[in-house]
Amino acid sequence: MDITLESPLDMHLHLREGDTLDLTVPLTADHFAGAVIMPNLVAPVDSLNNLRKYRQAIESYCHGKNFRPYMTLFFKNYSRQELEECREHILGIKLYPAGITTQSEAGVSDFSTIEKTLEDMQELNIPLLVHGESNGFVLDREREFLEVYRSLASRFPDLHIIMEHITTADTVQLLDEFDNLSATVTLHHLMITLDDVIGDLLRPDLFCKPVAKTPRDREALRQAVFSGHPKLMFGSDSAPHPRHKKECIGCAAGVFSAPVALPLLAQIFEDEGCLELLQGFVSANACRRYDISPPAKQILLTQSPWQVPHYYKNVSPFFAGQTLRWSINSSFS
Ligand code: DOR
Ligand code: ZN
Repeated sequence: MDITLESPLDMHLHLREGDTLDLTVPLTADHFAGAVIMPNLVAPVDSLNNLRKYRQAIESYCHGKNFRPYMTLFFKNYSRQELEECREHILGIKLYPAGITTQSEAGVSDFSTIEKTLEDMQELNIPLLVHGESNGFVLDREREFLEVYRSLASRFPDLHIIMEHITTADTVQLLDEFDNLSATVTLHHLMITLDDVIGDLLRPDLFCKPVAKTPRDREALRQAVFSGHPKLMFGSDSAPHPRHKKECIGCAAGVFSAPVALPLLAQIFEDEGCLELLQGFVSANACRRYDISPPAKQILLTQSPWQVPHYYKNVSPFFAGQTLRWSINSSFS
């Protein structure tokens, strides 16, 4: 059996910078029509000038592939004028609580100081993408952040707020309480629980933020995605770290899923008997929620097994060494 996906999108992606782009950009540009590019570089992407340079760097590794990087700025208190200038160049602005994950030290430490920027974003129709975790106990962090989501969603009813990489049953519930909330869901959070990360031998390749949660949480995510929830969009949160940053004391957070994302999504949707819902999850829902029209691109997936390499350069991918049922056969525009 074959399936053809129309203009699949990865709505949350870390490409990194410098030489790493040589690995990350072609992998995603081969499989997707576009991706939302996270701004947490060593120096955060927080000006139009830096954003332009970063987009050009990404495009220089696209080698003519039909691929659109949807750029984001790192949240800080921007002036109205800065927001007006940036508006046409960005898909949204990504907010990190300070220090909550990789390269987020410059994030927000006091939510009471950001009202004006949020008001301006609402007026200018600039979406707010949020890494929603508190500083509490690791398994409670997302749940504790729900109050912040509630407060933002009710006080800024016309601000499109995207709850990034959601992992808990409570967050899935919150989605339906406010029209202006959407969410991205990763592949790994649909597949693993905390048991896979620390229940047997410690798995640095599966350690990420937010950490994978309980079987009940995973079930709630799967239930929502596999029933075609219209506010859920695929965002891989593929986040490569070199081997020496994973296999060490002080392992960096991030699952590198870009090479296997579409084949594994096809596999789990097929296993649930809902392959026909994959198109919505990987493209149509995002196009509708963000009001975007990605480049026309068709990706043909076929049932032909392949073994995932143990490493892509010095980065170990999700499902390394395992055999997947679906392959990307070709992409054509
Ligand atoms: O696991 C993660 N890795 N979660 C994030 O929020 C950031 C990402 C990264 O940049 O490595
Ligand atoms: Zn991320």
